[in-house]
Amino acid sequence: MDTTRTLGRSGIEVSAVGFGCWAIGGEWQDPDGQPLGWGRVDDEESTRAIRRALDLGVTFFDTADVYGAGHSERVLGRALGRRRDEVVVATKWGNVFDADTRTLTGGDDSPAHLRRALTASLRRLGTDRIDLYQLHLADADPERAAELRDACEELVAEGLIRAYAWSTDDPARAAVFAKGPHCTAVQHALNVLTDAPEMIRLCEEADLASVNRSPLAMGLLTGKHAGRRPLESGDIRSRPPAWLRGFGEGSGADPAWLARVDALRDVLTSGGRTLAQGALAWLWARSPRTVPIPGFRSVAQAEENAGALGKGALTDGQMAEVERILAR
Ligand SMILES: NC(=O)c1ccc[n+]([C@@H]2O[C@H](COP(=O)([O-])OP(=O)(O)OC[C@H]3O[C@@H](n4cnc5c(N)ncnc54)[C@H](OP(=O)(O)O)[C@@H]3O)[C@@H](O)[C@H]2O)c1
Repeated sequence: MDTTRTLGRSGIEVSAVGFGCWAIGGEWQDPDGQPLGWGRVDDEESTRAIRRALDLGVTFFDTADVYGAGHSERVLGRALGRRRDEVVVATKWGNVFDADTRTLTGGDDSPAHLRRALTASLRRLGTDRIDLYQLHLADADPERAAELRDACEELVAEGLIRAYAWSTDDPARAAVFAKGPHCTAVQHALNVLTDAPEMIRLCEEADLASVNRSPLAMGLLTGKHAGRRPLESGDIRSRPPAWLRGFGEGSGADPAWLARVDALRDVLTSGGRTLAQGALAWLWARSPRTVPIPGFRSVAQAEENAGALGKGALTDGQMAEVERILAR
């Protein structure tokens, strides 16, 4: 398998796996105390993991201004340091937060906020441009989005961003952004347990990359939640909000999801792959446009996820076997 992919119509080349930087932002919450992070993190370990990923050929990193209320962007920027120009940095905007209390306070989809948020992200990341700038408000108003798309085109013309995208699971919304010449991707949920055929079709028709969030189903596809492993109280999976699937409040992983992971184990672990590597292999086989962005918290996870590149995509026969097992 070619270990690089092109981000849609932009011509920007990235490693076929990107690294998702939500978890390394550490703890943050909503005003009701609902955790929105993944519990405590060790910034030194996050930094070592990013640098190990660079050495293993990873050239794509996805973060957001709101992850850890600015912390993820700062950790990523510092870890990249002088190697920043070797990589493609994606971040997101649209959420409003209080950095002191690490609290999400709301959303703002105004063009004025777009500029403010971009300036703040550039500062935290220690860079002069964002390679892929993504609207983080998945359900924003499509009419407003047309205005934001044009505002993003202006930022491209000014050299502040190279390309932009919408992070949304709604193909109709993604299609509004796709009308902009420098819109080059959509970030959406996709993993072997949750397919998104309409979004893949849009990516093919509009020449967009399909940047895949939650490629490991928030850890379920690594197999380590099989014993219904307890989750730390600051971890979003310990008190999952309504949109988070696969985990139940106070009970850990959903048994029905675990049963599906178990049923897929043999086909995903073919060719000497770990389960996580098999989940990434499914995504690469799903479409030549996919770029999974697994999250990570340690050097070991970075090595395993980057190591998937060398093992390639599932075969057509294995893809058909997955569909048969899941009765799709
Ligand atoms: N646009 C959006 O609204 C949005 C939403 C969600 C995610 N995202 C992006 O997508 C990225 C990835 O999605 P995600 O964070 O939801 O989940 P994911 O990639 O499906 O799962 C990542 C988690 O699984 C565990 N893990 C990763 N590699 C592992 C390995 N090799 N072995 C064992 N465990 C491993 C880690 O958590 P533990 O060690 O704690 O289990 C890690 O944080 C995010 O970081 C973010 O950049 C964007």
